[in-house]
Amino acid sequence: MGNVAAAAMASSLLMPAALCLLLLAVPPRASGRLLAAADQAGGPEPGPAATSPPPDTGGGSSGGGTTSNLWGKDGELWDPSGPLIDFSFAGYRQGAAPLPSPPATRNYIVLSLPAGKYMLTAPLAITRSRVVLRGAGTGENATVLSIPHSLTDLLGPNPGYPRTGGYVANGAFVAITSNATLGKRLGRVAGSARRGDDAVTVDDASGLLAGEFFDLWFTDTDGKFNALMYNNTLQPPDKYINDTRVKLSTRILAVDGQRITLERRLPYDISPGINSAQFYARQDTVHDSGVEGLVFSFAWSLYAGHHLEKGYNVVEFYNVFDCWARDIASINADSTVVMTAATCVTVSGVRIEVTKSRANDIPNSFNEPANRDGHWGVHHGRSFDLLAEGVDVRCSLFHDVGTDASSKFGVFQNSVMVEGNLDLHR
Ligand SMILES: *[C@@H]1O[C@H](CO)[C@@H](O)[C@H](O)[C@H]1NC(C)=O
Ligand SMILES: *[C@@H]1O[C@H](CO)[C@@H](O)[C@H](O)[C@H]1NC(C)=O
Ligand SMILES: *[C@@H]1O[C@H](CO)[C@@H](O)[C@H](O)[C@H]1NC(C)=O
Ligand SMILES: *[C@@H]1O[C@H](CO)[C@@H](O)[C@H](O)[C@H]1NC(C)=O
Repeated sequence: MGNVAAAAMASSLLMPAALCLLLLAVPPRASGRLLAAADQAGGPEPGPAATSPPPDTGGGSSGGGTTSNLWGKDGELWDPSGPLIDFSFAGYRQGAAPLPSPPATRNYIVLSLPAGKYMLTAPLAITRSRVVLRGAGTGENATVLSIPHSLTDLLGPNPGYPRTGGYVANGAFVAITSNATLGKRLGRVAGSARRGDDAVTVDDASGLLAGEFFDLWFTDTDGKFNALMYNNTLQPPDKYINDTRVKLSTRILAVDGQRITLERRLPYDISPGINSAQFYARQDTVHDSGVEGLVFSFAWSLYAGHHLEKGYNVVEFYNVFDCWARDIASINADSTVVMTAATCVTVSGVRIEVTKSRANDIPNSFNEPANRDGHWGVHHGRSFDLLAEGVDVRCSLFHDVGTDASSKFGVFQNSVMVEGNLDLHR
């Protein structure tokens, strides 16, 4: 391994007055530039180490960015135990396979909608693996799903957000969703291990198989791990004390007695008194399903306000892995892609626009602002290894892209936004 990528931000080099998110996934042998690095977990911006050479200012005419002391030109400065976490496992199949384009075969169910305009009057749920909802595209001769109602019109207030009943970050007109529970509990990491290590010792290796994927969940002890995740510079809220909120989904490469070699390096120390880490079998849940080539067009309405969304939401991924949304567009949406408890989802090509501004200053009883066109472009909460690319936001959102509570190891790249409002939650 050793491919490192980092969510990187820079004022746009491509489009003036637009914010552009760049990701440079730089294999050790390739040449590339890391413009800036930020741990999604909200870790501190590290200063240059005293022993590192001064930043390379780029020099060439091709970009004008600088390389990072955390990476160097070709990864020669990268330290797996240092602040720059390996982000290269983001996306469908941890980035190891392209998104499939399956024909309708025995292995996939593909629901194809030719170009044209259709009414969608109720939400759709995809609850099986290998199901693809496919339109003809979002350009000329698009497949347009016209949606006359909100989720509130159809289902009433959102039970998942009782404070206001708003469809803030769950619920959508196409949901790829599962109620699957956690996989079987397996061995626990014994003793200590360091960030950057690629092997751990477990108390019981039965059930852990070389070549298979497992989920390694980290549990906080007395708030110490929560603080460690921010290098002890921030203390997350008390409600996270003793909670299990970090998942490293990884293939096991070798099992040698109780010694387990991982494909991914540990993103955090494991240490008694600070945290504990336990392997689980992968969930038996929906995977390899996707939605693509569709425009979702809501009837224009004024935006109800932040946290008061009526539920003009497009696509939801809930509790699934290795799924995708590709080449989709939304018109007059509250939120376009929302995901919770999802892993290795790729969102590739999302255009977000309104027919005219939905923003307003109409007061509401919650004193929430409504002075934007909508809430989320691409959201992920409690999700891991998301890859979002080609997010083209042509209107004003509260969060064009956002990492909501407990999401980790996600990447946003190659996107263009008129405002570029970002959101990072712990
Ligand atoms: C954590 O902070 C210390 C200084 O207190 C610094 O030396 C170290 O590099 C930081 N580690 C990470 C992973 O950011
Ligand atoms: C759209 O459809 C028209 C009429 O069938 C066709 O002439 C045109 O080439 C199509 N455009 C694209 C981009 O496929
Ligand atoms: C999940 O459980 C809820 C409540 O029992 C049920 O309404 C829903 O249909 C289930 N969803 C799936 C995908 O099975
Ligand atoms: C966290 O767990 C420890 C035991 O490991 C317990 O003593 C402590 O009270 C717990 N704290 C909270 C806030 O639940």
